[in-house]
Amino acid sequence: MNFDRRIKIAPSILSADFADFGREIRAIETEGADWVHVDVMDGHFVPNLTFGPPAVKAFRPHVRGFMDVHLMIAPVDAYIEAYAEAGADMITAHVEAGPHPHRTLQAIRATGRKAGIALNPGTPVEAVEYLLDLCDMVLVMTVNPGFGGQKFIHSQIDKIARLRGMIGDRPIHIQVDGGIDAKTAPLVAKAGADVLVAGSAVFKGGSVDQPDIYGENIRILREAAQAV
Ligand code: DX5
Ligand code: ZN
Repeated sequence: MNFDRRIKIAPSILSADFADFGREIRAIETEGADWVHVDVMDGHFVPNLTFGPPAVKAFRPHVRGFMDVHLMIAPVDAYIEAYAEAGADMITAHVEAGPHPHRTLQAIRATGRKAGIALNPGTPVEAVEYLLDLCDMVLVMTVNPGFGGQKFIHSQIDKIARLRGMIGDRPIHIQVDGGIDAKTAPLVAKAGADVLVAGSAVFKGGSVDQPDIYGENIRILREAAQAV
């Protein structure tokens, strides 16, 4: 992956048909998704349960491009190797997942995968200041993690802008996740985000039998973000 700050749309398959992931993944990529975002939840760090390593491994052959795995699990370190082996291209852990996020990032880098660190809405941006040199991406959560379809938290725009200043020239992506739609996409893009995760806004109205709607939704999001 060559680094660039162009807008990338990363549909979250949390909003896909859970009985048909292979076709859903192929449909969103064909319709213009840049990355495929996989939300892993443990029923402990967040109040919901989703995908273990065998599920992620089953997704892998269907993903032609970049698979971005967001781990909302604690503890996290013991599972990094398994998600790397399952075929993640990027592994993102939460800074709140334990007392040693620096060690967590070292462990992700040791697998040869790209490393991301995520911040919950209540966590100050300074929490990642001394982690940036180990990061390929910082994820600013724009909802409290756990569920799709929640309302965007506007206070995070200031956090994105401050993070953008902190990153400077370093090749580190800023990803946003939660409540991203055609209204909020320009706000986060203007503040400095370049990877936009969207679940509801990509999958709404479409299906594997009507994938062109996914394409239209992705195009609308991209154009809204680029129009800043
Ligand atoms: C929240 C998840 C998000 C969520 C995004 O815990 O990490 O990826 O699925 O969904 P929307 O775009 O519907 O807010
Ligand atoms: Zn996510």
